[in-house]
Amino acid sequence: MRPFEGRRILLGITGGIASYKSVMVARLLAQAGAEVDVVMTRAAQEFVGAITFEAVTGRRVYSEIFGSGNALDHIKIAREASLFVVAPATADFLARAAHGLADDLLSAALLANTSPVLLVPAMNDRMWSNAQTRQNVSHLEQLGYDVVEPEEGPLAVGEGEGPGRMPEPEAIVARIARSLERKGKLASLRILVTAGATREAIDPVRFISNHSTGKMGIAIALAAWRRGAAVTLIAGHVDVPIPGMLSTTRVGDVAQMRDAVAQNLPSTDVLIMAAAPADFRPSSPASQKMKKGKSSESGAIQLTQTDDILKSTIANRKPGSVVVGFALETENLLANSSSKLDGKQLDMIIANSAVEKGAGFGGDTNRVTILSRGGGREDIALMSKTELADVILDRIEALIDGR
Ligand SMILES: Cc1cc2nc3c(=O)[nH]c(=O)nc-3n(C[C@H](O)[C@H](O)[C@H](O)COP(=O)(O)O)c2cc1C
Repeated sequence: MRPFEGRRILLGITGGIASYKSVMVARLLAQAGAEVDVVMTRAAQEFVGAITFEAVTGRRVYSEIFGSGNALDHIKIAREASLFVVAPATADFLARAAHGLADDLLSAALLANTSPVLLVPAMNDRMWSNAQTRQNVSHLEQLGYDVVEPEEGPLAVGEGEGPGRMPEPEAIVARIARSLERKGKLASLRILVTAGATREAIDPVRFISNHSTGKMGIAIALAAWRRGAAVTLIAGHVDVPIPGMLSTTRVGDVAQMRDAVAQNLPSTDVLIMAAAPADFRPSSPASQKMKKGKSSESGAIQLTQTDDILKSTIANRKPGSVVVGFALETENLLANSSSKLDGKQLDMIIANSAVEKGAGFGGDTNRVTILSRGGGREDIALMSKTELADVILDRIEALIDGR
């Protein structure tokens, strides 16, 4: 699975309680297709056995700097790594790394390493706030290492709560994916993604909406974040959790989504409208809950067209920015998508069917046709929304490249 397939990741484990979570990190990476070389400090082996890491990675675990046959392990494993990760990184390891010590296999390998480095500290909150640790962290960041901020939360039993907790394995794997991919064309661009369904009030307790779950938009936002983009997600109602690393604005109806898009638009390099804003809203929502059996309630709801968010962006787009829309249709998919592409001056439109099996709302897969300005058309095979997110971003990168 991209971006892990065939990549060699050196995963250093140091002697912190959170090392039990690193078993899951190693497992997730191996399952995603990475070759994971685990290097454990002596202290780490007090917490988790090397055999556990061997079992989940299917590879030998490194730990000793001295010993016959190990002579150049610290150079070899560092040279072969695409990324050097230490999770958890103890206060002691951060200090050794900050001072260039090389008194064990992991710290010696770090000195010999030339790949990007991701350090995931985990420790007691007072150790984390200690001035010496702060200084070590800031020095490591100056050296170009990516240091993940520990989370706030319950620490070891009896130690209460505070900053120092290692993020959960899935979040660490997402950071690793980002580090592996961040050199793409989208790195450092500002990307605005909309996702999910809007809700248009009928009365204070009812609304008109649609079946959008937000899965496609969130997959795109996450894939763009992994490529190093500065991503803002504008999310209506979604049925899946929004990953914490995405900077997110929640909105209710089309008017709120339009305003949130307008606010971000002047600084947006790539706008991807994957949300399903309602096309119609009740003309005059009732101020009180509508009641059954009241003579004043006819039962008919008068509808008005909502603002067209994509059309409203034409005048205020950042010069040179890329705008990508989605079209979901029940009939005449390509003809309708093509006129939307022209009418809203889009660079690209992703056409997906609301009726085709495996495509459109709700499921984990999609089958789309990508239409581009100038008449380009590409039929994309049925695939997961996660994979499709990468295909769409590849096409956007190619478009930016070709300019
Ligand atoms: C039960 C226990 C838990 C520990 N947890 C942590 C921890 O979470 N973070 C940390 O920085 N040090 C922790 N330590 C201290 C480290 O294990 C110690 O500093 C050790 O020298 C680190 O060695 P290493 O960096 O080579 O792995 C813990 C020690 C013990 C006994």
